[in-house]
Amino acid sequence: MMYSMEKLNHISEDNICRLVDSFYEKVRADDELAPIFEAAIDDWQPHLDKMYAFWSSVMLTTGRYKGNPLIKHMVLPGIRPELFERWLALFHKTCRELFDDEISAAFQVKAERIAESLKLGIFYRPDRPWPPQPAA
Ligand code: HEM
Repeated sequence: MMYSMEKLNHISEDNICRLVDSFYEKVRADDELAPIFEAAIDDWQPHLDKMYAFWSSVMLTTGRYKGNPLIKHMVLPGIRPELFERWLALFHKTCRELFDDEISAAFQVKAERIAESLKLGIFYRPDRPWPPQPAA
């Protein structure tokens, strides 16, 4: 008999941990993203703990995350606008693997908004086209 792959149908702290763990496993296996993360992060558990708190604040409005993501990303060596597409694609894939469609979509909407605001904060210049043109 075929077992249906039951998708998670609610957002809880536990389910956020599963999402974050699974997402960063994919990030660490990604040719483009891994080097940036591995250069910035020595000890992964504190980063994962921060990301549990971040998504808990975003999705469950717990206020557990305190920090300033923009400043952290602004100073990341090697960060480029196109990498956000890749980040989002991996994040969406992870959401869809774990959660039902509605919850997966709710995560994706938030991730896209935050990614856009990070990109604006990092790369927007009033005298240049937006979205940025990839370097020729
Ligand atoms: C190209 C895309 C991205 C890259 C390469 C990237 C990379 C990183 C790295 C290396 C760190 C650790 C920085 C450090 O500890 O010094 C970090 C932290 C973080 N990232 Fe990203 N990130 C990306 C996109 C995003 C997006 C789209 C979000 C949110 C939806 C996000 C949320 C965060 C948060 C909340 C932290 C913790 C900041 C803190 O220390 O308080 N990142 N990111």
